[in-house]
Amino acid sequence: MIEWFVNEGDHITQFQDLCEVQSDKSTVKITSRYDGVIKKRYYELGEFAQVGQTLVDMEIEGEESNEADEEISTEQPTPMEDVIDPPVPSQSSQSVLATPAVRNLAKQYGLNLSDIKGGGKDGRVLKEDIMQHAEQPHDVIPITTPALEDRVEPLKGIRKAMLRSMKSSLNIPHFGYNDEYDLTELVLLRKRIKKEVKHSHGIKLSYMPFIVKAVSVALSKYPILNSQLDSNHENLIYKTNHNIGVAVDTPHGLLLPSVKSVQNMSVLDVANELNRLHEAGLNNKLSPSDIADGTFSLSNIGSIGGTYASPVIFPPQVAIGALGKIQVLPRFDRNGDLLKAHIMCISWSADHRVIEGATMARFSNLLKDFLENPSQLLLHLK
Ligand code: COA
Repeated sequence: MIEWFVNEGDHITQFQDLCEVQSDKSTVKITSRYDGVIKKRYYELGEFAQVGQTLVDMEIEGEESNEADEEISTEQPTPMEDVIDPPVPSQSSQSVLATPAVRNLAKQYGLNLSDIKGGGKDGRVLKEDIMQHAEQPHDVIPITTPALEDRVEPLKGIRKAMLRSMKSSLNIPHFGYNDEYDLTELVLLRKRIKKEVKHSHGIKLSYMPFIVKAVSVALSKYPILNSQLDSNHENLIYKTNHNIGVAVDTPHGLLLPSVKSVQNMSVLDVANELNRLHEAGLNNKLSPSDIADGTFSLSNIGSIGGTYASPVIFPPQVAIGALGKIQVLPRFDRNGDLLKAHIMCISWSADHRVIEGATMARFSNLLKDFLENPSQLLLHLK
């Protein structure tokens, strides 16, 4: 009970507000069904009344009160379930007899009470009436939204080139191979020299120059991964130069310029050239020769995020590697001690028409060795 609008002894008329009650679902005003005098209020503010219990006793006037004159003690209780909204001729929902629970139910089903024939006393709408009505098929009013035109953009430029090369890559049976590399030492090495390289050479040093250079050294041991299938599919052409393509994400689309002749370059040279290609790619200033003649590819998707990828070979090349994000993860060392490791997952795709899975795995193992022990790499640098 949250509010009384009448006191004991008050003379009230039909439809006058008696009180306001709050259920767990809603707040409802209860009105009187009769003209009369309030004889007794049953609840104090804040008290709980159960549905069906009497809220007030009333002495009723009018037709009934004539009888009541004789039987003065005739007092009419107004129970909780008589949550009355007066029956008035206009058939609005409010004018229909129903308990708050039933009104709520009708609301849940999106029904208008005045559309429902009440099966209770005086046409009161009951729960069964709502359920019965809700189960009947009704006309569905279609909800229309204004038609928005789809935007049509012709495929051209970089996107069209991507479509062409990816279409031809569909002819290649891709073999996938994944592994994880522990780059903890490389991370420390880069951290140690990064500032100095920037300061003395003006070069931004990311992980890519080390990885590109290590790939080149590993390709020297597995030259088939730097080969190409000729157009008649009759010969393998072993390419002399390691022109390592690096996928560059640009606002104009995905580009694949390559660092040429990496086998003859230092890590610093590679870093310098990568920075130039990256910058030129972002400004749409790459030349056709920057893009042409790649022999092997890397895609550092990990600079954006992600752990694994399924890279698509860029024909006529025979292999590509996708680098995942370097993450700090718990790993065990050789003695079984737990340590904090910088782990990068790598996903390879190779052309299974010419590359055996074992070759890809051995190449990846060698690269892993170089990147996990950068000092090993030093021994192979020219
Ligand atoms: N994991 C964690 N950190 C990485 C990372 C990786 N895999 N790759 C790069 N980073 C770090 C870099 O070390 C650098 O850190 P710093 O600011 O401390 O020096 C930072 O992220 C930014 O590196 P970025 O400028 O991207 O240089 P990069 O040489 O590592 O990569 C590109 C250059 C061109 C490869 C890269 O910018 C790019 O475009 N990648 C997306 C390629 C793509 O879209 N592939 C999908 C092909 S379908």
